[in-house]
Order: sequence, then C-alpha cells, then structure tokens
Amino acid sequence: MKAVKIIDRKQVRPTDAYIEDNMEPKTIAFSTITVVQQMMDVDANIAGNVHGGSIMKLVDNTACMVGMRHTGGNAVTASLDRLDFHSPVYVGDILRIKTSVNYVGSTSMEIGARIEAEAVLTGEVRHTASAYLTFVSLDPEGKPRPIPQVICETDRERERFAAALKRKEKRSEARQELKDRAEAKHPQTEKSA
Ligand SMILES: CC(C)(COP(=O)(O)OP(=O)(O)OC[C@H]1O[C@@H](n2cnc3c(N)ncnc32)[C@H](O)[C@@H]1OP(=O)(O)O)[C@@H](O)C(=O)NCCC(=O)NCCS
Repeated sequence: MKAVKIIDRKQVRPTDAYIEDNMEPKTIAFSTITVVQQMMDVDANIAGNVHGGSIMKLVDNTACMVGMRHTGGNAVTASLDRLDFHSPVYVGDILRIKTSVNYVGSTSMEIGARIEAEAVLTGEVRHTASAYLTFVSLDPEGKPRPIPQVICETDRERERFAAALKRKEKRSEARQELKDRAEAKHPQTEKSA
C-alpha cells in the first residue's frame, strides 16, 4: 500500500493567512479590478473563436482577486448566477474584465463583472458579457467568516447595492426551496446527514 504524505495545509496555502483586524469598511473603489488581456490562439475553440470557458476562468479569477482584496483573506466562489455571451470574442481581441463589489452581506458578497472585447486594429468595443458572482470569505478552517462592510460612494454604487440585495434574497429563497424539495424527497437521508 502506498504511504500517504500528510501535508500541513497551512504551510502550502498563503490564503490561510488573513488579516485579523480588517473589519474596517472599504470603499468599492478599494477592491475594484480590471484585467486586460489579449486573447491568443491557445484560448481558441475548434471554430477559431475564443473559448467561452477561457473567458469564464478569467472572470472567476478576476472576481476572486476583488474578493480577496475586500476581505483581506481567502474568498471562494459560491455561485455564478449566469453568464450570457452577447457577442463572440476573436483571437487577437483585447479582453477587458471589469469587476467590483456590488453588495456585501455577513460572510458573502456579490461581485459584478462586465466583459468587453476590443478589436485591436479598429478599436471597436463590444459588450461581450456580464455576470454576477457570489464569493464567500473563509477562515483558515474553511468556515465562512464575517467580512468588512462596503462603502457606496456614488448613486450608481448605491443602486447596484440595492439591486444586488434583491438578487441575494432570491438566491437564498431558491436554495431553501431546493433544500426543502430534497428533504421532502429523501426525508431519511437528509435527517441523518
Ligand atoms: C460556499 C460555502 C463556503 C458556503 O458554506 P455554507 O456553510 O453553506 O455557508 P452558509 O449557509 O453559512 O452561508 C454563508 C454565506 O454564503 C451565502 N451562500 C451560501 N451558499 C451560496 C450559494 N450557493 N450561492 C450564493 N450565496 C451562497 C449565504 O447566503 C451566506 O451569506 P451571508 O453570510 O452574507 O448572509 C460552501 O458551500 C463551500 O465551501 N463551497 C465550495 C466553494 C468552492 O470550493 N468554490 C470553488 C469551486 S471549486
């Protein structure tokens, strides 16, 4: 039988460290990040357009940086509402992923992403996609931990916050409905879990 080497996760994951006293509220501008990257042939699907999955990964990574900046610790993707691609992205296009905190709850936050593609030679900019991601802040034991509140400085930020709160409530209701349905279908399994 192969010996299993137990790795001390604290030695290998820098995200296990976090700033204890970082509960001071932060502005949205503090954590806003725009990633700009030219799409290359390694990002292409077999039809020659940029693979949706490559864009999704970039969006998730960018939103994660925003989450970590805001919380000063580890933040993981809990969910992605939906990602509709309005127009294709081509190899050579400059992709811009603008991400910022929309809303902060107790341990979770909604991060909004706007994805634009710019044709490098003509400068034509297309709104490619938008997405709402929920990130949850985790402590070193992997449990949700409280996060700093967010300061909305502009009317636009306040509108986004209010709209995101409504989405958060809908998500929570949908999760509860799923849970209730699962419990009704498998009462024994759920009770013993
Ligand atoms: C996300 C995760 C931490 C939630 O843990 P949990 O014990 O179910 O959390 P809770 O029920 O206490 O909810 C914590 C917060 O997350 C929110 N939340 C939990 N699941 C959610 C989901 N699927 N979508 C949106 N928000 C969610 C809750 O609304 C709550 O927010 P609030 O504190 O701001 O009110 C847990 O499910 C997890 O670790 N998932 C894996 C995450 C991961 O590995 N992501 C990378 C993909 S490989």
